[in-house]
Amino acid sequence: MLDKSVIGGEQRTLADGNAIPLLGLGVWQVPDGAECERAVRWALEAGYRHIDTAQAYGNEGSVGQALRDSGIPREEVFITTKFYPARRDPAAEIEGSLRRLGVDQVDLYIIHWPQNGPTWAWPGMEAARERGHTRSIGVSNFSAQELDEVIAIAGTPPAINQVQFSPFEYRRSLLAACETRNVAVEAYSPLGTGRHLSDATVARVAEGVGRTAAQVLLRWCLQRGTIVLSKSTHRERIEQNAQIFDFTLSDDDMATLDALDVTGGTDRARERKWW
Ligand code: A2P
Repeated sequence: MLDKSVIGGEQRTLADGNAIPLLGLGVWQVPDGAECERAVRWALEAGYRHIDTAQAYGNEGSVGQALRDSGIPREEVFITTKFYPARRDPAAEIEGSLRRLGVDQVDLYIIHWPQNGPTWAWPGMEAARERGHTRSIGVSNFSAQELDEVIAIAGTPPAINQVQFSPFEYRRSLLAACETRNVAVEAYSPLGTGRHLSDATVARVAEGVGRTAAQVLLRWCLQRGTIVLSKSTHRERIEQNAQIFDFTLSDDDMATLDALDVTGGTDRARERKWW
């Protein structure tokens, strides 16, 4: 039986004082329309209270529709969207996001990637926050160095850095740098967009704890201190991926999974950039 209060209730307090649920549904690559609306609806029914979208995903409209249809009060669901950095002005672009989502304010607005450098967009992010269009601001795909460059010019520092993170991409130095600077890490693609699910080591750990490979990979992120974003468009998987607060991986299992890292514990956010 799904304990919805636990899924919705497990939160972390960010540096700016705002609380964020530790598990979110990500909707990257889910087309706008019925498929996205269904995934968000199923997640909300399963107890998720955190949805992660982006201007670049093109599906903010469906996220907003599903949120309204759910009847869940707006303030009970944490909504993230991301500034598409091929555009110029984050403070102007968030107005389109709010319109598409059908909300007055998002909970978190982050720079999707550091295209054309890490600092130029930050004043616009701060302006969006000062206007009340977002409660928190942050970044995504920023290395430790890029994070420091933003912090150096920031009035309000980023509360979040959302990066690709999993046992195979265990960016130990980046995580440590974020922790030192009181920047929370959000793990995206924790299943390696599905690739990590078939790994033999993950399967062995999963068998040992009587859980699925997906649950083990998501749980590893939580125990390494990150917020975790999981993506699925299948109802049973959305439900399964929420069952990660009722078991613990042992120190031995964590060490076994840590050893899968192929990044050398990097402080970089990406091995290859697309921008
Ligand atoms: P689908 O959306 O068809 O369910 P990541 O979170 O690393 O981006 O991985 C997402 C991918 O993993 C998607 O292709 C998704 O497929 C698949 N996936 C998500 N949860 C599970 C699960 N519990 N079991 C198997 N595959 C899953």
